[in-house]
Amino acid sequence: MKKIIFLAAMSILGITACKTVVKETPDNSEKEVMKKADSVLALMTLDEKIGQLNQFSGDGELTGPVALRPDLLQSIRDGKVGSMLNINGADYTRKIQKIAIEESRLKIPLIFGYDVIHGYKTIFPIPLGEAASWDIEVAERSARIGATEAAAAGQHWTFAPMVDIARDPRWGRIMEGSGEDPYLGSRLAEARVKGFQGKNLADITTILACAKHYAGYGNAQAGRDYYTTDMSDNTLREIYLPPFKAAAKAGVETFMSAFNDLNGVPATGNKYLIHDILKTEWAFKGMVVSDWGSISEMIPHGIVANKYEAGDLAFNAGVDMDMEGNVYLTEMKNLLKDGNITEAQIDESVRRVLRLKFLLGLFEDPYRYSNTERESQTLLKPEFLAEARDAARKSFVLLKNENQVLPLNISVKSVALIGPAADAADDMIGNWSGRGEGKHVITLKKELETRLGAGKVLYAKGANFNDSDKSGFAAAMAAARRADIIIAACGEAGMMSGESMSRADISIPGVQEELILEMAKLGKPMVLVLFNGRPLILTKVNTFVPAILEAWIPGTMTGPALCDVLFGEYNPSGKLPVTFPYSVGQIPIYYNHKNSGRPGSQEQKFTSRYLDVPNDPLFPFGYGLSYTQFAYNNLILSESIVSDIHPLEVRVDIKNTGLVAGTETVQLYIRDLVGSVTRPVKELKGFTKVMLKAGEVQTVSFKVAKEDLSFYNREGVWGTEPGKFKVFVGTNSQNTIEAGFELK
Ligand code: BGC
Repeated sequence: MKKIIFLAAMSILGITACKTVVKETPDNSEKEVMKKADSVLALMTLDEKIGQLNQFSGDGELTGPVALRPDLLQSIRDGKVGSMLNINGADYTRKIQKIAIEESRLKIPLIFGYDVIHGYKTIFPIPLGEAASWDIEVAERSARIGATEAAAAGQHWTFAPMVDIARDPRWGRIMEGSGEDPYLGSRLAEARVKGFQGKNLADITTILACAKHYAGYGNAQAGRDYYTTDMSDNTLREIYLPPFKAAAKAGVETFMSAFNDLNGVPATGNKYLIHDILKTEWAFKGMVVSDWGSISEMIPHGIVANKYEAGDLAFNAGVDMDMEGNVYLTEMKNLLKDGNITEAQIDESVRRVLRLKFLLGLFEDPYRYSNTERESQTLLKPEFLAEARDAARKSFVLLKNENQVLPLNISVKSVALIGPAADAADDMIGNWSGRGEGKHVITLKKELETRLGAGKVLYAKGANFNDSDKSGFAAAMAAARRADIIIAACGEAGMMSGESMSRADISIPGVQEELILEMAKLGKPMVLVLFNGRPLILTKVNTFVPAILEAWIPGTMTGPALCDVLFGEYNPSGKLPVTFPYSVGQIPIYYNHKNSGRPGSQEQKFTSRYLDVPNDPLFPFGYGLSYTQFAYNNLILSESIVSDIHPLEVRVDIKNTGLVAGTETVQLYIRDLVGSVTRPVKELKGFTKVMLKAGEVQTVSFKVAKEDLSFYNREGVWGTEPGKFKVFVGTNSQNTIEAGFELK
């Protein structure tokens, strides 16, 4: 059947001389794919070529101002659309695809794209939460499942992973990425790319991934979304670009250009970023799509006067496809006529688009992803829900556990469950939740009632997420007084983080903190379970509440995952992928900072300090407790003098000194003591997870290679410099043991 469609498509396209051997799964060798792409390109008119470079949104969710769109269906018939986003479902994608296949001259299939950020229907923890698992297998599996569900629902392409490094928790989009660290971010970027794209895009459970937002977007000044970024080339290349480079190396097939201006040039018109670094230096073969309207947004940026100039800047920078901007469609012909761009450039971009369509096997069968039967059999499979539960419990970070309030005893007589998050199904899937629905979420309240019996759970909402209404306080306090244990489920509403959700005040919103502190005064065992898409300021609650569990936005399986941890069926193992500030005034605050000429303490005058708050954060990067404890001993380096050819081996003994089994994430940091440019005080260069039974000791070993010691020197050249280095190994970025070596 497939064979017939493929042959039919080829003959309609006029590719009669094509000697391709037709296989059940397409031949995705680069040579073969490019040959096919060229054979299609040869048949195309200029208008049809330009047509392939446009993407428009269907009538699903719209994530930005809608450009003045042409009649979309007619445009598809006219061959003026290469891709659509926000068209959902096997049935609907099939219908729209049918128009391209049956009513356009060349019958070139459309690519359907969608934001599958932390699941399609089965919703996983937000990416920042998942990053707290420091578990690359979890990240790969969740992307795999997101892809499998999305692919069964007609999607070919996700706009993920978002790999923006974020050092400012005011920025709402911090929830979409892996936090502040380039190393952890790079490992997770690779894992997610592999998860989405699988081994071969011809497999119908895989979809194209997209590394976004290229680049620097997470550095938005003052944490305000879409705002300016300005940084040195060293910071760009050492902090913000590594996860993109890692994604490219892992074979990501698309990149999305960002909204921000970087050092005076919007990322979408930034030739240095796209043409020079991505397409030339990194030899990226895939396709670059703009962000939503980001080509025409270069007009308000003030770098171009009109759409014509915007198209010129973006296309010459290397943006192949215009997302929901309607710039290429209207301006490209004139740009060509005026000699600002060449037909060879257009061909090059079209080739990149066609290549993807061949890789996905859409020319063989344009409907291969749009199968309603597969869709209904695939979404929300029990095994996907089990994975989502596992990912969620691995993402939780135990921030405090005084007097071992946790784990709770399952035979507890009564629990007061208080707070707006306790039963807020919609908020548990958060922002960018694909086609996820609150109705599939098992909330904390529901699961707690299942485990303990409804009679033992004294529930009162107490407060809303974000207003000043205290009318629920009395009932909440009454429940808290009656119960043996208080669980406060508080934090941000699901949509308080994400795009355009910047906050200047990142404390627990509304009157929730007041309610938490009131309850804490009762002096009962109390656990604060926090739901949030960003680090919050927890300084006050940390003083008064004995136990705090950071749950992020956990997804469809919120309740079961939380109860697993609360009752000790799963020992928490998450570690913060981002620093939690002590005060909002410390922002930007991150562990891999420079030392300054006057490092010091708060007590010492004329040092780099604040008068009113410490320099240290409340909870450092990499921090997270367990129900057991781990001791680090015998840090041994294979060499004290190292050449940059052989990797250095670092070994350390980890002992579980507590009473229960637990998983520890062992972290390795390096410091280059003297460099031709100043170096950070610590840089993560390795991590590994070890599961240890009570009393068990394991030796963990790391290899430190030349690459790990390299940086961009004063001349802008990547490499190592001889000199002394420190090695730190520990349970978080602050609590480490150390040794040293010299690089010859
Ligand atoms: C966001 C992107 C997203 C796109 C499509 C934009 O507003 O910045 O991250 O992929 O919309 O939904």
